[in-house]
Formats: sequence, C-alpha cells, structure tokens
Amino acid sequence: MNTPSKQPLETQALTWSDELSALPACYRCHASPCRCRDGIWLIHGDCRPVLPKIPAGVIQLVLTDPPYGINQDGFRKSLPDSEGETCVASIVGDESDALAEWLLVWIRETPAVIFGAANWPTLLPHKGRWICWDKRCNERADKMLGSAFELAWENRHSGFGMMVRVQHGGVVNADHKRFGRAHPTQKPVQLFERILRRYSDADLILDPFAGSGTTGRACKDLGRRCIMVEIEEKYCEISARRLEQQVLFT
Ligand SMILES: C[S@@+](CC[C@H](N)C(=O)[O-])C[C@H]1O[C@@H](n2cnc3c(N)ncnc32)[C@H](O)[C@@H]1O
Ligand SMILES: [Zn+2]
Repeated sequence: MNTPSKQPLETQALTWSDELSALPACYRCHASPCRCRDGIWLIHGDCRPVLPKIPAGVIQLVLTDPPYGINQDGFRKSLPDSEGETCVASIVGDESDALAEWLLVWIRETPAVIFGAANWPTLLPHKGRWICWDKRCNERADKMLGSAFELAWENRHSGFGMMVRVQHGGVVNADHKRFGRAHPTQKPVQLFERILRRYSDADLILDPFAGSGTTGRACKDLGRRCIMVEIEEKYCEISARRLEQQVLFT
C-alpha cells in the first residue's frame, strides 16, 4: 500500500484575518495576528481567557490532549526512550478533570478530537466516536509499559470509529531521531498527521493544551494553520524549536 506523501513545505505565507488580533501575541514572532510564515501561532498562557476571544465558527477542528485529571505520579517514572532520555515532569492541571469539563463546554459543536477522554466518560455530551491509537511494540515490552493503546474521542454523530497503528513507547519513539522525547505525554507527529488527514477540510486547527507542540508540527507538515496555547514556557520553547526543524520526507 502506498503511504500518502507529505506535501512540500508552503512557500507562500499562511496568514490570519484581523478578527483574531484580540488574541495574545505569538510566542515565536511576537505579533498579533501571528506573522510566522508557516501559519503556526503559538501562545504562551492559560487557554481559558484566550479561547473566548476567538470568534465563533472560526476554528474548524480542535485537536487536543488536555491534562487527564488523574494526578499521575507515574509520569515521573516513565522509562527512558531510544535516546536514553526520561521525562520526569508532572503535568499542570492534572489534579482534576476541571479543565476537560471547561473545554467540553467551550467547544460545543466545533468538530473536536480529544485524547484522554476515556478518563472522564461521564463528562462527554453524547456518544460520539472513538479513535483507537494502537501503539503496541511487542508483547513483552507492552506488559512493562502499561496500556498498549490510547483512545481519543470525537464529537461527531455519524461515521465510524478509526484504528491508527503507530508504534510508540519506552525505547520505541515513533518519531525516531526526528524529535526526542521532551514531554511526559508527548504524542507522535505521525499519529496526529493521520488524524488530521481524516479532517481534510479543516484548514484552521486549535490545540489549547499544546504541550511540546505535536499538533502544530503536524499542521505545519500538512500546510494547515494552527493556534496552539500552552501554559508552561519550557514547552513553548520546545514547540518553537520543533517547528524550526527541517521536514523529513518519508
Ligand atoms: C497532556 S499534555 C499535552 C501533550 C501534547 N499532546 C504533546 O504531544 O506534547 C497537556 C498540556 O496542557 C498544559 N496545560 C495545563 N493547563 C493548561 C491551561 N490552563 N492552558 C494551557 N495549557 C495548559 C500542560 O502544561 C501540558 O503541557
Ligand atoms: Zn507567529
């Protein structure tokens, strides 16, 4: 089976309308609206006061991975990856599901794909659909690493669920040497690209809980515009660096 080839990097700058100039300046270019040519607007801050400044109907897809609300001390014990790196940080906002609850109210009918939603099934407004990320490496490793899959919830009412197979975990980093592990719940870019292809009409994507910037990187590779918000400056730095890296055509 042929894998769809990545689109070449945009040569024409991706731009923003003035209706978004009420948003905070971009962490990368310091302008509002953002002037980064790749159309990836990175905001350092708390997403709760930021999102209400986005006019209704502008966002075509929310693709995000909010704090899970599980107060997971286990993140501090995560295994080293192929570079021998471990991620030992705890996640801001992980002590409760308050952020998830807030997000679900804000998005209303905006198309959304939300990782971690299996942690708060009673908050989900309707049945929706599930994307199953099959991240198995091999049976022995999976037993050591805990869950061999993760679920993302989609708020669509029709169509089918989806299975995405992208190996990841422990010493297997699906992004190989392209991006080392910099965040305890970092997702592979390839996984987010596959999900974005499912929403081929979505040209403006929002990730209010951006972490190390996987959503923005996947959007950049596919030539889509993206607004990312992240509360921790150290992850904004990492996002900015990942966005400057060259694309590898696979
Ligand atoms: C589960 S992680 C996202 C990881 C990301 N998918 C990646 O691949 O790196 C959730 C992120 O939300 C951030 N966060 C927590 N509260 C926030 C808030 N109120 N506004 C913006 N970001 C927040 C955390 O710092 C954390 O980096
Ligand atoms: Zn910018």
